[in-house]
Amino acid sequence: MNIALIGSGGREDVLCRKLKDSRQIGKIFCFPGNAGTAKIATNLDINFLNFKLLLKTLRLYNIRLVVVGPEEPLVKGIVDFLKKNKIKVFGPSKFASKLEGSKAFMKLICKKYKIPTANFKICRNKEDFKNSIKKFNSPIVVKADGLAAGKGVVICKTKKKAFEISNQIFKGKFKSSKKVILEEFLDGEEASYFLIVDKHGYINFGTAQDHKKVFEKDLGPNTGGMGAYSPAPIINKELEIKIIKRIVKPTLKALKDRKQFYRGFLYVGLMIKNNDPYLIEYNVRMGDPECQVIIPRLKTDLFKIINYSLKNKLKKIKLSWEKNKCMTIVLCSKGYPGNYKKGKILKIKKLKDEKNLFIIHAGTKKIDGNIISAGGRVLNVVCKGRNFLKIRKKIIQHIKKINWKEGFYRKDIGWRVIKKV
Ligand code: AMP
Ligand code: GLY
Repeated sequence: MNIALIGSGGREDVLCRKLKDSRQIGKIFCFPGNAGTAKIATNLDINFLNFKLLLKTLRLYNIRLVVVGPEEPLVKGIVDFLKKNKIKVFGPSKFASKLEGSKAFMKLICKKYKIPTANFKICRNKEDFKNSIKKFNSPIVVKADGLAAGKGVVICKTKKKAFEISNQIFKGKFKSSKKVILEEFLDGEEASYFLIVDKHGYINFGTAQDHKKVFEKDLGPNTGGMGAYSPAPIINKELEIKIIKRIVKPTLKALKDRKQFYRGFLYVGLMIKNNDPYLIEYNVRMGDPECQVIIPRLKTDLFKIINYSLKNKLKKIKLSWEKNKCMTIVLCSKGYPGNYKKGKILKIKKLKDEKNLFIIHAGTKKIDGNIISAGGRVLNVVCKGRNFLKIRKKIIQHIKKINWKEGFYRKDIGWRVIKKV
């Protein structure tokens, strides 16, 4: 069977590699993919948000299953559209995608189903905001309701700053929504819990910790993620039981009560405080870079898991994982997450993948035989092993071999799990 993968990041490159291992898959097409996916699949550079054009292209290449990487097409209803046109698709419906697409929707579910999360207030206008902020102490978390490409959350040290940020959102800074969510600041350790879900069940799909800040010691602005590792030791068995009971099950019930259901990857973003989980956010997809450290540890055929989910038979499958730990460090273009240059050449042709050490592409393109940078997060070096300190050393040695003068990376990925530095 020919399949398509939507997206162009490290997440899609690692998913593409894993799917390629399945004997049941014919050709893989990536929309639009990157220089990494180009080595194993066919990249098709069309605007996948133009669903009609996408459908035409899928039919042209006899593609019968679509796996969706990023959130935007999901929130815009790609799953409903393709299903209506008889194409199988792995991902949540437009309704279920509101778990990520509308923070107000997610928070109201938390309130109704008593899911532990930060106290909040949804504000529709400036007046509403002015009245509500009185009840919050600094720091105050101000969030845009809709999708904001990772730029929709600001932790404000002062109320003045909170007013400034909320005014920008009310004025329409983000096209997706003008609502503002005011939130209490939660202090704790962040970790992510992943699941694959279908109409009748769900299965644990690993844990990870990301590093969102651009600079070492967790300083500077937020990015899409500078590096990650899996598993996240903070998510112990006892905590996992709490996550399922207090967060996952009530959320799936909330969808069921609305005659809806969830299918696809589900990313539960958590703050852990005193061994208790609080929901910070849902993402209706795999995380990136988290996907790069979970997929390499998975021994089970991913295509098989997706098929079980499409048939609502996830309850019948048991996943098998390597004992190895895994880490990825992201090599970014200088200037990211602000302005950066594209089109810079990367000399990586001579670097061969090893069994437990490999390069995953993100913002790269192949032009005239050269691999060039095409985004903020450019390459990822992923390594597996038994010891995070040794893994990190290997990754850094490899990044040094890449010797990309136009890039930078964090050398302290995994600091929480690496005591000795
Ligand atoms: P989100 O887009 O909701 O994941 O938020 C981005 C980041 O902001 C999270 O990864 C957290 O680091 C931080 N954050 C969001 N909400 C809160 C909160 N209520 N308390 C503390 N930090 C938060
Ligand atoms: N790495 C964070 C995310 O994928 O949302």
